[in-house]
Amino acid sequence: MLSIKNLEAGYGKVKVLHGISIEVPNGQVITLIGSNGAGKTTTMRAITGMIKPTAGEITLSGKRIDGSDSYTIARLGLAHSPEGRRVFSTMSVTDNLLLGAFPRLTGSRPKGDVQGDLDRAMDLFPRLKERRNQLAGTLSGGEQQMLAMARAVMLNPEIVLLDEPSMGLAPILVEEVFKIISRLKSEGVTMLLVEQFAAAALNVADYGYVLENGRITAHGPADKLKHDPAVIAAYLGGSH
Ligand SMILES: Nc1ncnc2c1ncn2[C@@H]1O[C@H](COP(=O)(O)OP(=O)(O)OP(=O)(O)O)[C@@H](O)[C@H]1O
Ligand SMILES: [Mg+2]
Repeated sequence: MLSIKNLEAGYGKVKVLHGISIEVPNGQVITLIGSNGAGKTTTMRAITGMIKPTAGEITLSGKRIDGSDSYTIARLGLAHSPEGRRVFSTMSVTDNLLLGAFPRLTGSRPKGDVQGDLDRAMDLFPRLKERRNQLAGTLSGGEQQMLAMARAVMLNPEIVLLDEPSMGLAPILVEEVFKIISRLKSEGVTMLLVEQFAAAALNVADYGYVLENGRITAHGPADKLKHDPAVIAAYLGGSH
């Protein structure tokens, strides 16, 4: 369980998050919806230790993680598939995936079956399997996005943060990404999902939060949010 209470964070003197609270119970998919610039990525960065929160509390399985560095937080089982294509371009697909398992290989996370998980990741993402020996930098944008997701899962994490996994993907790949998210959910993977496709995100999620200008303005079970007129007007109409 990831619990965020009254989180404030920003960049230098600019405050972006004005005290937000989010709960991600084990085994559930929670989605964070909001317009461009609302503070979704900033929330992810504050959770993963990439930026230091200025107030509030973040706990993972009961342990305080706010103020810790990113590697310590990853070792506790929090994996992050960041916005954009953040893969190691001069390494192969397989090596990128093994790097996701690094804390397991060095003994700072339970080792489990790394090779078995690598095989499962390849099965889950057949496009990556076909390209396992290719340098990650030569993958297409969509393939790199999938690699970032698969690498996060290779931590065998307590929770995965997915920041716009469908960004820049062709419609057919967007569908594939949502299928993969559903499959991970059915395997019991806990996820915090940020998505531009709010309708699809609410379809896969158990519960959702709406973030506007750094504040949570609505939250509730995904089925309820889908029928909330304000949410429909702002996020589910027209092009969404
Ligand atoms: N490194 C940074 N330095 C200064 N300001 C930043 C930085 N990163 C983001 N911001 C600002 O913080 C605010 C929130 O940005 P953030 O990236 O969290 O939005 P977002 O909800 O993820 O938007 P999008 O849907 O476009 O990805 C924006 O006003 C943005 O300009
Ligand atoms: Mg963002």
